[in-house]
Amino acid sequence: MIKVDPHADANILERLRAAGILLESPCNGKGLCGKCKVRILNGEVSPLTERERACLSGEEIEADVRLACLTVPKGPVEIDPLGLLGEAPGKVLGGGKLPDIPFAPMVTAAAVRMAEPDFENGWSLCDSIGNGAKLERDLPLSFLQKLPDMEGKKNLWMIRQGLEYLDLREDLQAFGLAVDIGTTTVAVSLVDLCTGTIKAEDGFVNPQKAFGLDVLSRIHYDMEHPGGVLELRRVIVERLQQSAAKLAAITSVSLDAVYEVVVGGNATMLHALLGVSLKSLGRAPYNSVFTGVVNIPARELGFELNREARIYCIPAVSTYIGGDIVAGVLTARIDRAKDTVLFIDIGTNGEIVLSRKGKMYACSCAAGPALEGMNISCGMRAEPGAVEHVSIDGDRVLLGVIGNAAPKGLCGSGILEAVSQAVEKGLIGKTGRIAADSPLTVVDENGKRCILLDKKFGIRLTQNDIRQVQLCKGAILSGVLTLMERLQLSEKDIDRVIVAGQFGKHLKPESLTGAQLLPKAMAKSISYIGNSSMTGAQMCLLSKYERQRAEQIAQNIQYVELSVSPGYEKLFTRSLQFGGV
Ligand code: FES
Repeated sequence: MIKVDPHADANILERLRAAGILLESPCNGKGLCGKCKVRILNGEVSPLTERERACLSGEEIEADVRLACLTVPKGPVEIDPLGLLGEAPGKVLGGGKLPDIPFAPMVTAAAVRMAEPDFENGWSLCDSIGNGAKLERDLPLSFLQKLPDMEGKKNLWMIRQGLEYLDLREDLQAFGLAVDIGTTTVAVSLVDLCTGTIKAEDGFVNPQKAFGLDVLSRIHYDMEHPGGVLELRRVIVERLQQSAAKLAAITSVSLDAVYEVVVGGNATMLHALLGVSLKSLGRAPYNSVFTGVVNIPARELGFELNREARIYCIPAVSTYIGGDIVAGVLTARIDRAKDTVLFIDIGTNGEIVLSRKGKMYACSCAAGPALEGMNISCGMRAEPGAVEHVSIDGDRVLLGVIGNAAPKGLCGSGILEAVSQAVEKGLIGKTGRIAADSPLTVVDENGKRCILLDKKFGIRLTQNDIRQVQLCKGAILSGVLTLMERLQLSEKDIDRVIVAGQFGKHLKPESLTGAQLLPKAMAKSISYIGNSSMTGAQMCLLSKYERQRAEQIAQNIQYVELSVSPGYEKLFTRSLQFGGV
């Protein structure tokens, strides 16, 4: 039970946000998603709206359930939050396999001896570290403050980032955090910078989800609320700090030994992390405030790691091709490939890079969150109970469920396989309409057709679910075809297709081509690379040469704006159809 006090005309969602309590609110308080449910236990609130009547069931209305964003407290009220933003119950994909890279981290530890200062040489304690020679750089204040305690100690370790001095310590410990901030999920790994090993990994739902499911909602949140971006920054920094503390605790590492954080993410995520206004991202011509490298003290953002710890953000290509994609290209090594490679990162946004012998073009498209299990009636994250495989044979449906549990819903790979199978077996027509006469077609309580995949557990695909997949496939397919056209390539010219993103390796390549996100001929060339943004961040943490390479990649990719590409609209419309291109 939570007490909410009234304030001006603020609704319950706004009052809870002000108190740091975050509810599910994918539509960002517009009364559209119906997720921000609360039960009113006590107190007077504004009358039920028509919109709420449409979103809530009869039982819910009976039980005093309301949508927080449409309900204004008239006095102190007590509520039970039903749509509290939770942890990611499923696994957030950590980094994939690291390619062979030279181990050469920016943060290094070198053994030093502190010589004895005496009357004769008149050395300061600083001089005694350098054996009388002047140190090449200024020392940070924290270093100077620590020095008196180190006097007379023989075996010390000097920690540096490049040429800069960061710390002097008695134990050999230097760690870094690699972070992938996705719009939906965040992955963090703790990396030992002395040995090059990944010590532990963590993942969680991006807490900014409480301010909208997609980047556009979060940009609008900042545009409509003064200081909005600082609120977005606060929630992500606090959550990252918690994650860092958790990883440090399970590996018995001191947070004081964490000297660097390397972050991959799209432009909105990086702007929000740094507390840089999102407004220019939300109005034409939609420019980023920055695309280049950012390397700043972590404490400026409120992190509590080593006092001198730095944050390095992997540079972006443009507003729409962020550091996460640069990290992905780095991981996939396609910047120096001798063949023709298509790299696709499928997330809430789809980013596509086509490399022909290392000459790279990229575009971005709004794939939507359908393949992350969102905006889908039975959608869910990939966790036990999620259907990940679907096979249809006449009126029989075989479901493969994670953890061999009773099916609870469809995760991304399940949704794709279900659509792919439904298209193949003729349950869905060319336009995406569900066939009236198939044995699996039923009419739901709203009089709408749907495909019933499991009667007992109510697993189904609705017409709207199929539309959501069509929007995703239309966006990805038309993006791929536009880049191929730009390089005057046909399907047979593509040697390899590398798919990155949250999909596990269980997704069959045929599902991507069966649901027609990609042309059929590409099925044999598809491979998965996992969360390449995380892998790229780890690589940049472990090697300064990889970091330089990432900076070159950001310079070398040429961005293609789909909306101004000739004929794009028509291509997109055709790509929405099954069998349309
Ligand atoms: S209905 Fe979407 S946040 Fe309230």
